[in-house]
Order: sequence, then C-alpha cells, then structure tokens
Amino acid sequence: MNILILGGGGREHALAWAVMQNPKCDKLIVAPGNAGIAEIAECARLDIEDGGAVANFCDENAVEFVIIGPEAPLAAGVGDRLREAGLLVFGPSEAAARLEASKSFTKEICDAAGAPTAAYAHFTDPQAAKDHVARQGAPIVVKADGLAAGKGVIVAETVEAAQAAIDEMFGGAFGGAGAEVVIEEFMQGEEASFFVLCDGEEALPIGTAQDHKRIGEGDTGPNTGGMGAYSPAPVLTPEVAEKALNEIVKPTLAEMARRGTPYQGVLYAGLMIRDGQPRLVEYNVRFGDPECQVLMMRLGAQALDLMHAAAEGRLAEARVNWAEDHAMTVVMAAKGYPGAYEKGSVIKGLDGLPEDSFHMVFHAGTTETDGRITATGGRVLNVTARGASLREAADRAYAMVDRIDWPEGVFRRDIGWRAL
Ligand code: AMP
Ligand code: GLY
Repeated sequence: MNILILGGGGREHALAWAVMQNPKCDKLIVAPGNAGIAEIAECARLDIEDGGAVANFCDENAVEFVIIGPEAPLAAGVGDRLREAGLLVFGPSEAAARLEASKSFTKEICDAAGAPTAAYAHFTDPQAAKDHVARQGAPIVVKADGLAAGKGVIVAETVEAAQAAIDEMFGGAFGGAGAEVVIEEFMQGEEASFFVLCDGEEALPIGTAQDHKRIGEGDTGPNTGGMGAYSPAPVLTPEVAEKALNEIVKPTLAEMARRGTPYQGVLYAGLMIRDGQPRLVEYNVRFGDPECQVLMMRLGAQALDLMHAAAEGRLAEARVNWAEDHAMTVVMAAKGYPGAYEKGSVIKGLDGLPEDSFHMVFHAGTTETDGRITATGGRVLNVTARGASLREAADRAYAMVDRIDWPEGVFRRDIGWRAL
C-alpha cells in the first residue's frame, strides 16, 4: 500500500514511524514532514488544506491511503474531497469534524446524546454573555466557539476576568472563532485523554494518556500545546474507560450517524474525572500532539492495520494487542515558547541516540540545513521512551534528553509526576 500522511509535527513523525514498521506499507510520503520524518520517509511540499491539490498529488504518486494528522485540513473538508476522488482516507468528514471545529455543536450533540459534560450557554451577543456570567459567578469557563489553535479557552477565576475574556473574544482576539462564545460551568477533577477509533458505527478504544499543558514544572506558568505526555493514564481505570465509552463516546457516535454524518477516524475525548465519573471537556477529531507519540510507541506497527480497518469500516473485526507497558514523551521547546522564541539554533547530539521500539526522538519543529538539524518551531523535539513501568520509561526518556546538546532548548524535568 502507498500511503500519504498529511502534517509535519511530532504527531506525524510518530504516525510515520509506526506505519513504516508495518510490512503492508510499500511506500510512505509525508507532506510537508520535517527533518526527522525525512530520515524515514519521503517528504513532499503540498498545500495540505487544499483538497484538490492533495487529490491530484495522490493521483500522480499512486497513493492509495491518506492519513490526515491535524484538524485544519479535516475542518476544511480535505477528507471529503479525497473520498470523492476515490481514495481511502483516515479522518472524519468536514461535517463530522465539527465535533472539534465548533464547541456549541459539540454541546448540542452531548445534549442530544445524554453525554455527561459541563452545563453551558451559547451567546452571539457580548452583553448577554456578561449578564450570564454575572448571574453564575466564578470560577467559570469562557470559550471561543471555533478553532483557535488551542488558545480560545479562558478558565476565569473571577467574574471580572470572565467579562474581560468575553470582550476580548467578541473584539476579535481569536478572529472569526470568537464571533460566538460558549460559557461553561467550571468542572473539578483530574483530566485525562481517551482515544477511540471509529468507523462510522463501531468504536474501538486504543489507549489513554495524560499531558502537561503548562510550560513550567509543577504545572505552573502559561498554557502550551503540551510539554509532555504519558500513557496509560492511571485515572482512566478500566471501569472509568468503560463508562466514558458507554456514556459519552458511543452515544455521540450514534447521534452523529443518526444525523447522517457518521464519524470515521480517531475521536480524542478530553475527560474530567471526579469520583470515578467521567465528563466530557472537549472532543478533538485527530490524535493529540504529543499524546500520539506515546500511543504510537505502545501500539507500533498494528497502528496502521487499525487505522486501515477504521477507514474501511472493518473495526468490528479488529483487535488491539495490548502490552503491559508504559510510554512517556518529554517535549523540548525553544526558549521563550509559548511566547516569542528564536528560530535557527543548532541541535547536536541526536546521532548517537538509540532508535528502537523502546527509544525514539520524534521531531516536531526541525529543519535540516547543510547536514545540521536546526530548531524551527516552538515545540521542537519529543523525546519518547517505553518501559515495563512508567519509571523505566521516564528514566529512558530523560537519559536521552540529557545527551541532547541544545543550549537554546527548554524542557520540564517532572513529566508524569502525578503518576510517579
Ligand atoms: P479545551 O480547549 O476545551 O480542551 O480547554 C482547554 C483546557 O481548559 C482543558 O484542557 C481544561 O484544562 C480547561 N477546561 C475547559 N473546559 C473546562 C471546564 N468546563 N471546566 C474546567 N476546566 C475546563
Ligand atoms: N495535546 C493537546 C492536543 O493535541 O490538543
């Protein structure tokens, strides 16, 4: 099978790494890819949000199966264009991608499906939103309705902070994403991520993870896209996962199918768990980044068979082979991230690191120039390891981190602290 993966971050490097281990993969192209991906697969320049351009590329390169990594092409309907062109695609339609692209849509689906989630109200007018906040009090959560690159959520400790966030969103701080606002009850508990493959009807859980969103150790400082992750998530016990599947994910899939927009791809449910009861925080219609890196480390080559089965509607007969293992990824970011950071610093020490089914450095934001690897993104490397225990995975990951020579990089020493 000739396969194309769309995307160029650590998530796509991990997907490419798993796919390449499967003998069913004859040829792999990743667009746009990055310096790490270029070491294991062909990289191509391509506008991945232009469905017509991607379809032409597939035709010219005899691609048979396309795996869509990020949310933007999914929300732009690239999956639909490719399916119309007769390709096999892993990833939801534009209509089903609304589970990530519109927070009010997700809330409406949860209502219809009876899925436990935070109480909410939806506003198109700033004054009505502010009056609502004044009545509800704080803490309270203000969300831009649309896609805002992970930045459209404000957990407000005070009514004043919530009202300022409302002004900011309606004032255009998140562009069109903030033209509508969802205001939610603040949920307490522990957060974890639950990943389920879907083929329109069937749901197959493929793993759990927890990430660290804050830049600083002890979970302090500004929010980031994620500074590290580990799998499995201890808080998502088999009992809690079963509840999340039966009370949240399956009813959602049934409601999507009932509406004529069945969901196919990976559904990433962000959950808040308290006293053994999961509630939905949000859906994402793609793998998490960096959660994908720890899931791929644990699944390995079977990930391709599972994604292929989801795309072909064969999940009912698919099985996941679980090992009693743990994985951790430590994100190395450019100094200054998530604020302004410099690009172009040189990373050394990557060559001598182990690369096997227990150790892998996935690249998130790198470029190769004249044989040197340089940092070109905010999150730059995902140093990932697997072990029989989380402790072993952590020791292996940090042993690699300590061998990487990159003075301009920063990372957290405490990934997994809650579970360790
Ligand atoms: P989201 O983009 O919806 O995942 O929100 C980003 C983060 O905000 C989540 O990972 C939570 O930490 C937090 N958050 C979102 N909604 C709520 C809520 N209703 N209650 C508490 N925390 C929330
Ligand atoms: N790590 C969080 C996300 O991918 O949305």
